Amino acid sequence: MNEHTSAFDAQSSYKVTDLDLHATGPGTLAGRYLRMFWHPICLVSEVEVGRTRREQIMSEFVTLYRGQSGTLYAVADRCPHRGVQLSVGWVQGEEIRCFYHGWKFNGSGQCTEMPAETPAYAAKMCIRHYQVKEYLGFVFIYLGEGAPPELPRYPELEDENAGVLESLARAPLPCNYFQRLENNIDQVHVNFAHGDVFGAAGVGEIPEYIIEQAEFGLRAIGKRSSGDRITYYHMPTAGVMAVPPVGDEVDWATLVVWRVPVDDHTNRSFNVRRAKKKPGSPAKPAKDRSAEQVAVSLDIMAGRRKLEDVSLQDRELLVPVQDNIALLGQGAIADRGEAENLGRSDAGIIALRRLWRQELQKVVEGQPVLQWPWPKSGMKVTSGAGG
Ligand code: FES
Ligand SMILES: [Fe+2]
Repeated sequence: MNEHTSAFDAQSSYKVTDLDLHATGPGTLAGRYLRMFWHPICLVSEVEVGRTRREQIMSEFVTLYRGQSGTLYAVADRCPHRGVQLSVGWVQGEEIRCFYHGWKFNGSGQCTEMPAETPAYAAKMCIRHYQVKEYLGFVFIYLGEGAPPELPRYPELEDENAGVLESLARAPLPCNYFQRLENNIDQVHVNFAHGDVFGAAGVGEIPEYIIEQAEFGLRAIGKRSSGDRITYYHMPTAGVMAVPPVGDEVDWATLVVWRVPVDDHTNRSFNVRRAKKKPGSPAKPAKDRSAEQVAVSLDIMAGRRKLEDVSLQDRELLVPVQDNIALLGQGAIADRGEAENLGRSDAGIIALRRLWRQELQKVVEGQPVLQWPWPKSGMKVTSGAGG
């Protein structure tokens, strides 16, 4: 076993450690935990009527398709006949037909037709199907067993008086999702990694950092002379915060981000922001610049380019590059063993890992996990910059 391998072996005496946090494939401890919650998997607009879409989440492939009625379905991606991807098949009515030999499945995963076989064989064949919901421009999926919990709702993002809503499914970032979760709860990195951007916006002073546990997860309060910057960590994988305006925005935006594992070496971020814009701003769909952001980050890390050469004016490029070069620099899977040395300013990371270990321990012991309800009235985010 190396330091990146979870030692979990389904024994109730197993003691969870920080080395159990990164692996999320089927059967892993964190994977079993995350499968008890809903996760965004793609944009609603990415699954058109009569079309399929293949996505990978927590090392599993899923075929999404939208039937002719407009209803969205999600089934296992592998045809049980000879293992071909169902996502390359055809949507017919509310069903999907495999491209290779024509086996057909309905949205519940039941095989309804095997053109070259007997009906009795088809009746016996069933594949996994998954529950899906459409919310805030994203498709959310539940990959677990049994009945899913309620889909968390964010009233602050549903409020149409609070500006324009933009949903962005960002391209994969080649590192483990937990690095990104830890980055969410780390306010001190803002002073350094984003010092040029946020410093200008009034949060250049190192905060007194207070972490409070709450019913929904963690509240992080960065106390600065300009005011308190409060960010929220909604368990298990969402961050809720105020961010400085970009483009046509006139005020700090409310941002919710989900960091979702694609596999153990790759994660995706699903971002949704509500922001007030200049009157008459043209409505244009949010553009994902992740591929460019990753390419620039890798160039900087390889010494082919300098961070100072990325324009301060282009915050949509600069801020993610600043995060990427930190996160990718930690390696595909950050070492949470003896190689790191945490300090008091890492209170958020320490609290986050403690919550996760606590919940994973319940999974080991077969106990019910916490559900982390988001307040029905929503939550006010504050920037700490008077905004
Ligand atoms: S592999 Fe799908 S029908 Fe043969
Ligand atoms: Fe950051």
